[in-house]
Parts: sequence; structure tokens; C-alpha cells
Amino acid sequence: MKRLVRPSMEWKKEHQDYVAEWGSSRMVPSSYNLDGHASYQDYLKALAIREEGNNPWLPSSNYFLVNEENRILAMVDIRHELNEFLLNVGGHIGYSVRPSERRKGYASLILAEALKKCGELNIERVLATCDEDNIGSAKTILNNGGVEDKSFTEEDGNVKRRFWIENK
Ligand SMILES: CC(C)(COP(=O)(O)OP(=O)(O)OC[C@H]1O[C@@H](n2cnc3c(N)ncnc32)[C@H](O)[C@@H]1OP(=O)(O)O)[C@@H](O)C(=O)NCCC(=O)NCCS
Repeated sequence: MKRLVRPSMEWKKEHQDYVAEWGSSRMVPSSYNLDGHASYQDYLKALAIREEGNNPWLPSSNYFLVNEENRILAMVDIRHELNEFLLNVGGHIGYSVRPSERRKGYASLILAEALKKCGELNIERVLATCDEDNIGSAKTILNNGGVEDKSFTEEDGNVKRRFWIENK
């Protein structure tokens, strides 16, 4: 069964393989970036501090979506609260799917699973955002009941589409 698991030493190699497959573009969500950590243990320590909430990071929860063969298919980062940046740009939930596993429904699945976690955290209205040109992400959010709100234009001109999901 596909399931969410918390990052831990057990997932070191899988996480590194995912990052290698990702290539040189900026890691999404950024909390899964392994750059600048001397070891995986150091990364996990830094992640734990970040998850607790460590200015500018608000408390958050990280999960991998893994399959029956213990392969990481996707990653999600759930922010428990919104600040101005998250309200306009980042939203409650950030996710990515492993490049070789795209177009198989896993983004829709990890967002659905993340919404259950949001329920456990009593987040009743979940904000999910995506870049204007990210059709796959917009469809993922719409597949999970997203209702579109006003877009936000960042300083560099990038337009974020913003969707609310009622999570009751
Ligand atoms: C965007 C992303 C998460 C989509 O993941 P995915 O697993 O391929 O998505 P799904 O298979 O669940 O597809 C969801 C829907 O989007 C469509 N879709 C996915 N990628 C698409 C693309 N590149 N172009 C057009 N439609 C696309 C699917 O066909 C599906 O449509 P349907 O529901 O009508 O059948 C993935 O491409 C990714 O990780 N991109 C880089 C990181 C990123 O953009 N994260 C989101 C930040 S907001």
C-alpha cells in the first residue's frame, strides 16, 4: 500500500536518489534540499528544528509518499499556520513528485493524504498555490476540491494562483 512516512535514517538512500533524479533545478519543497548538510543525520536534525518552527519557518510536518517497494514517489511539506508570505505565495502545502513517477496520479494522492494530516492538525481551510503556468499542479489542487481565490503577483512578476480547500 502507498503510505506517508516521516523522514528518518531509513530513507537516506531513497531521499538521495530522489534528489539526484531531480537534478540541478531548485528542490521543491525546499525543506527536502540536502545541500549544505554534512551528513543525512545533520539534515534530519536541521529538519526537526525547522519543523518545530524556527524563524522564519513556521511549524511544519514533512512526509514522503512511498510505495510497496519502499520507493519514494513524492514529498510533501505541511505548514501548520500561514504568515504573509505563505498566505500570498506558499500556502499550507508544498509537494513534488519524483520526475520518473509523474503523470500517474501521485500528486493528487499525496495532496489527498496531506489533507487528512491537515484535518488532524485542525486546519479547516487549506490554502494551496501554484505558478500560473503549472497546469499539473493546478489540476492536482482542483482534483482535491480547490476553489480559486485571487491570484498574487510576486515582486519579480511571477503570478501565483491561490486555491482554498474546505477540509471538514
Ligand atoms: C506538478 C506535479 C506535482 C504534478 O505531479 P503528477 O504526479 O504528475 O500529477 P498527477 O499525475 O496527480 O496529475 C494531476 C493532473 O494534472 C495533469 N498533469 C500533470 N502534469 C501535467 C503537465 N505537465 N501538463 C499538463 N497536465 C499535467 C494530469 O494529467 C492530471 O490531470 P487529470 O486529473 O485531469 O487526469 C509534478 O509535475 C512536480 O513535482 N512538478 C515539480 C514540482 C512542483 O511543481 N510542485 C508543485 C508546486 S505548486
